[in-house]
Amino acid sequence: MAAVVSVLNMKGGVGKTTICLNLACSLAEHHRAKVLLVDFDPQANASGVRDQDN
Ligand SMILES: Nc1ncnc2c1ncn2[C@@H]1O[C@H](COP(=O)(O)OP(=O)(O)OP(=O)(O)O)[C@@H](O)[C@H]1O
Ligand SMILES: [Mg+2]
Repeated sequence: MAAVVSVLNMKGGVGKTTICLNLACSLAEHHRAKVLLVDFDPQANASGVRDQDN
């Protein structure tokens, strides 16, 4: 059964994207979890970081 984790806060610039990226990377690298990170943000900051890493 897959777990779904959502990170929400109405305030901007409080670390939502940073938490998502670090949580996804930590689960994948340190817990060998299969992680799907879905970026619904129109700013696409999480996707931008992924593209920089690759
Ligand atoms: N724990 C932290 N300590 C210090 N700086 C942090 C921390 N988490 C995030 N930041 C910094 O705060 C800034 C905003 O973080 P982030 O982009 O993750 O916020 P956000 O909530 O996703 O913003 P937005 O609402 O614009 O999408 C970034 O410069 C990030 O590097
Ligand atoms: Mg963000």
